[in-house]
Amino acid sequence: MSNEALENLLHENRVFPPSPEFAAQANATASLYDEAASDRLGFWAEQARYLSWATDFEQVLDWSDAPFAKWFIGGTLNVAYNCVDRHVENGFGNQIAIRFEGEPGDRRDITYSELKDEVSKAANALTELGVTAGDRVAIYMPMIPEAIVAMLACARIGAAHSVVFAGFSSEALRSRIDDAQAVLVITADGQNRRGSAMPLKPAVDEAVAQTPSVRNVLVVRRTGSDVEWTDKDVWWHDLVESQSAEHIPEAFDAEHPLFILYTSGTTGKPKGILHTSGGYLTQAAYTHRNVFDLKPDEDVYWCTADIGWVTGHSYIVYGPLANRATQVVYEGTPDTPNKDRWWDIVERHGVTLFYTAPTAIRTFMKWGDELPKSHDLSSLRLLGSVGEPINPEAWMWYREVIGGGRCPIVDTWWQTETGAIMISPLPGVTACKPGSAMGALPGIGMAVVDDEAQPVGNGGGGYLVLTEPWPSMLRGIWGDPERFQETYWSRFSGMYFAGDGAKLDEDGAIWLLGRVDDVMNVSGHRISTTEVESALVSHDAVAEAAVVGAADETTGQGIVAFVILRGGVPEETAKGEQLVKDLRNHVGAEIGPIAKPRQIMVVPELPKTRSGKIMRRLLRDVAEHRDMGDVTTLADPTVMNLIATGLDSGSDDD
Ligand code: WTA
Repeated sequence: MSNEALENLLHENRVFPPSPEFAAQANATASLYDEAASDRLGFWAEQARYLSWATDFEQVLDWSDAPFAKWFIGGTLNVAYNCVDRHVENGFGNQIAIRFEGEPGDRRDITYSELKDEVSKAANALTELGVTAGDRVAIYMPMIPEAIVAMLACARIGAAHSVVFAGFSSEALRSRIDDAQAVLVITADGQNRRGSAMPLKPAVDEAVAQTPSVRNVLVVRRTGSDVEWTDKDVWWHDLVESQSAEHIPEAFDAEHPLFILYTSGTTGKPKGILHTSGGYLTQAAYTHRNVFDLKPDEDVYWCTADIGWVTGHSYIVYGPLANRATQVVYEGTPDTPNKDRWWDIVERHGVTLFYTAPTAIRTFMKWGDELPKSHDLSSLRLLGSVGEPINPEAWMWYREVIGGGRCPIVDTWWQTETGAIMISPLPGVTACKPGSAMGALPGIGMAVVDDEAQPVGNGGGGYLVLTEPWPSMLRGIWGDPERFQETYWSRFSGMYFAGDGAKLDEDGAIWLLGRVDDVMNVSGHRISTTEVESALVSHDAVAEAAVVGAADETTGQGIVAFVILRGGVPEETAKGEQLVKDLRNHVGAEIGPIAKPRQIMVVPELPKTRSGKIMRRLLRDVAEHRDMGDVTTLADPTVMNLIATGLDSGSDDD
């Protein structure tokens, strides 16, 4: 973000308090801040009481082995029971849990009582396949109800799921299966994207051929496309549907692993972020109830995320279901069959609470006001944003055009690692500034510090840190405790380093400024520069690659790659457009389509410091068409001229 833009942000003086009507009915009032401030652990214990515990906990937090936390010690619970069964037992079996809408237009309503049957059957099926508590199960699925059922079935039997986004490549899937040593993969024959059936199963076949830990592949029939069949494969409709709908959920320790979710770090190897049961569910439910103001008997909630990301875990599966929400689940893309599909869904389902990402909002802005305006969106009463900073223009558009000027907007900051929302307005309390996530939620300790770990005052900028342990914090990186310590806890002693830059304005409201490390944020998805670089150099023609995230109007950041070709690559090839296409597809195959660079420039040299570190800052200047900053630390200050003249050989594709 340029300094000028930042200065403008910091002087944003539009303020939007909640309407008196909203404030009067809100779940969270200002007293929540006082309660948390006067007795933080007591406050969290109280939040944990919203769950049903099989055995009560004896102690709220054990931080003696920091940074390895234990929450709700001695407590046992079953997460799936909390998300499903207890609502049925409490008399809400006929309430719709999931209003599913497939991309082709097929619809399916699933009540809590039906969900209980489905999850129980799937749990019995997993048990029949020999999956037991403590095992890992990989889930590579489209946004269909079975994906949610699969996650809950794992939780029910105490197996940790590792959901891999269905847009990732088979190689990405393979490495994640391998790292977690998953024993089962749950997938589908394919998924509906932009009006056609896209295969999923072939990627699983490829991955499983190289991962001996996998004993079985459980396959949901979604698109009906032909699939290859191996002796490990089992159809979901053969195995699951014939099971008994009776399954007695076993209670597990509060610290029993619930899931692993891989996210990009600053090295080429994704980190398996580990979350456990009691603390995670406590905070997912607490934030969902208070930030989204859920009224389970009245609201229709819709979070547009995919279960492949943490937002899908915490705000489609665990938070909403623990709170007995009725929610919309949509399989497809926003532009199929038309660019008003989402607004059509909001109108037809009467969505009241809506949670999406800034990149989507900016895309809709580009598509024009007519599309949302051609629908009745008056059911909406609250809007949420997540994944990246939301610029004030997009915030105002969201408020006016989607929210009709009447809905509070909650800009929610959190991470795969934090498990649940950490920084956000409370919709019935906070007077919001467009573009600011405002402040830490009750119970959360947050600060912006300088290089010496000193808190900056209002008006100052620095690094975002979390100063107190929180219930849904990651418990580690799967199989790599040193990396856990090193990545999050070594930069500032005793504090969690989030990797984000932030500023506090004169009133102490927080403005998130994006990552300070080599992690890009493309359409709200974290992708590391190193990951894309290693994908590029794994191509025959590439000797060296440097990747930067450049500002992008729609996606937040776009991936821009600079590559040096190997000697021996013919001149015509080096100059041709085909090479750039090949390289983009190669990255797509190695990581997934979301990681395809927006632009690839073939250059003769890369700017490096004398110690050989690539100066990404300079490349970012080039990618963002800025005047070059300070080049004096370069080993060879003339390379930037070489790059600038070499630019013509790079070509924009797509
Ligand atoms: C960024 C997504 C500004 C941030 C839930 C963080 C945000 C990373 C916001 C985590 C927000 C997320 N404002 N930036 N409201 N929400 N981020 O793990 O850089 O996919 O570190 O979790 O997204 O991305 P992740």
